[in-house]
Amino acid sequence: MTSETQFILGIESSCDETAAAIVADGKQVISSVVHSQIDEHAAWGGVVPEIAGRSHLRSIRTVVDQCLTEANMRPEQLSGIAVTNRPGLMGSLLIGVTAAKALAYAWQKPIVGVHHIEAHIYAALMSIEQPTFPFITLVVSGGHTSLYRSDSALEHQLLGATRDDAAGECLDKAAAMLELSYPGGPSIQKAGAHGDPKSFQFKQPMLNRESLDFSFSGMKTALLYKLRGPGNRLTDPWIVDRKHTADVCASFEHAVVSTLARKCVRACQQHDIQQVLVGGGVACNLRLRRIMDELCAEHNIQATFAPPAYCTDNAVMIAGLGYELFAADKADSLNLDVFAQA
Ligand code: KG4
Ligand code: ZN
Repeated sequence: MTSETQFILGIESSCDETAAAIVADGKQVISSVVHSQIDEHAAWGGVVPEIAGRSHLRSIRTVVDQCLTEANMRPEQLSGIAVTNRPGLMGSLLIGVTAAKALAYAWQKPIVGVHHIEAHIYAALMSIEQPTFPFITLVVSGGHTSLYRSDSALEHQLLGATRDDAAGECLDKAAAMLELSYPGGPSIQKAGAHGDPKSFQFKQPMLNRESLDFSFSGMKTALLYKLRGPGNRLTDPWIVDRKHTADVCASFEHAVVSTLARKCVRACQQHDIQQVLVGGGVACNLRLRRIMDELCAEHNIQATFAPPAYCTDNAVMIAGLGYELFAADKADSLNLDVFAQA
């Protein structure tokens, strides 16, 4: 660490995690604090925007203070503040951005707004010592399933995206149908760990076309039919015995993650690129990692995942990308706005 080292404070509050982190020169994590609201939303089976906003408001100052304490740093030592300002839940984004503006004003620090999905990409890039661009990048989370061609840390061309549900949302809803706990991705992974992924057939959506788009909502209906039969009512008993839960979970998860992996390979082939980056909450998934590694190896493609701690929402990726934005002279003013859409 030299006197030139840039310490960026990152703040993230776009969905249901209140997070702050300090990262040196966009690479070295000095401290990272994540306050998850999972317990507050679990009873509802998904994120309730009103509850999320109020929870961010309660915890944001404590999270920032704890981040500085863990870093053993004073605000004067910071070079700038980076904050997620798009896309996300409006009320949640507003809390983080307002807090960041107040701190930037009080501490007289520059501020920059960060795109949440591009920050998920940065989390994966941080695992590579000297990235050589371009990459095909998959961001797959509860809110997003998108494929990009990344030509630098700041240049991402959208190649395809989900036309309906995100893959994480699909896993969350499937888990709710199976009466597994929220969030559904980790629950399905756990319940299906020893199941047979070939025991139930789920059609992998949109694979018969050249398109790099995804569609996951039909898979929920397919699952419902498997569980209760066509023409089902929610009150009908399962036609699949519950002892088959492990097999259903393994098969469903397999169909979702194979689709993701196969579209990544297709994007690589279409763009003549041999490297894939994967970030976002679903990138924690062990079956996705395994299938992606296998499929990529078959096609001589190198796959790099964000570390699990930086796959789900965190502020390390915000501080990291913030560093790159400051370095590219893209600082914002205190008029920084929030945007629900990308
Ligand atoms: O990135 P994230 O924290 O929030 C959004 O930006 O959406 O992702 C949360 C999503 C949830 O849908 C959750 O079920 C999923 O990531 N997830 C997983 C795993 N861990 C989290 N999905 C599959 N397997 C996992 N191990
Ligand atoms: Zn996210």
